[in-house]
Amino acid sequence: MEVKQIEAVDTHNLRHKILRPHQEPSDLIYPGDDDEGSFHLGAFVNDELVSVASFYIDAHPEIKDEFQYRLRGMATLKEHRGQGYSLALLNTAIPIIEKNNIHVLWCNARKSALGFYEKVGFKVISDEFEIEPIGAHYLMEKRI
Ligand SMILES: CC(C)(COP(=O)(O)OP(=O)(O)OC[C@H]1O[C@@H](n2cnc3c(N)ncnc32)[C@H](O)[C@@H]1OP(=O)(O)O)[C@@H](O)C(=O)NCCC(=O)NCCS
Repeated sequence: MEVKQIEAVDTHNLRHKILRPHQEPSDLIYPGDDDEGSFHLGAFVNDELVSVASFYIDAHPEIKDEFQYRLRGMATLKEHRGQGYSLALLNTAIPIIEKNNIHVLWCNARKSALGFYEKVGFKVISDEFEIEPIGAHYLMEKRI
């Protein structure tokens, strides 16, 4: 397995397949995808892209740090889950975030993925809330 930096557009197939199968192609473009400071990582197995994650400099109003990174679009192909690929993407992202002198990474975590985020060091910092049409989420942060 190899982790590489990829372009935002390279994430669209997995975003569509795994995260937003019923939404419009335009929903696969996330705000800030091409902003300075944004970056996208992919895990490759035999040249196949099996896991993606995207990182944005974006401050959540509930978190006090002046500069923050946001994690979005974390997804691994079903048949490749539980092999440590998402963790590998996070472990590659953290030094890049630290190099930007930023010490918090946050995400709106789907309730169904809560166990994953807890396992890799995120903590819940909100009550449950809904994001339509996806469902229940929690605000989570990881201090780095
Ligand atoms: C959540 C998701 C991205 C995790 O990807 P993954 O590549 O399977 O994760 P990893 O293999 O790196 O998991 C790291 C650890 O978390 C554990 N883990 C993964 N998903 C978990 C879950 N839902 N609940 C509890 N633990 C979980 C793994 O078993 C592993 O633990 P281990 O080190 O003890 O073996 C993947 O399940 C997925 O694509 N889900 C559907 C899309 C989604 O919900 N994305 C998040 C949107 S907020």
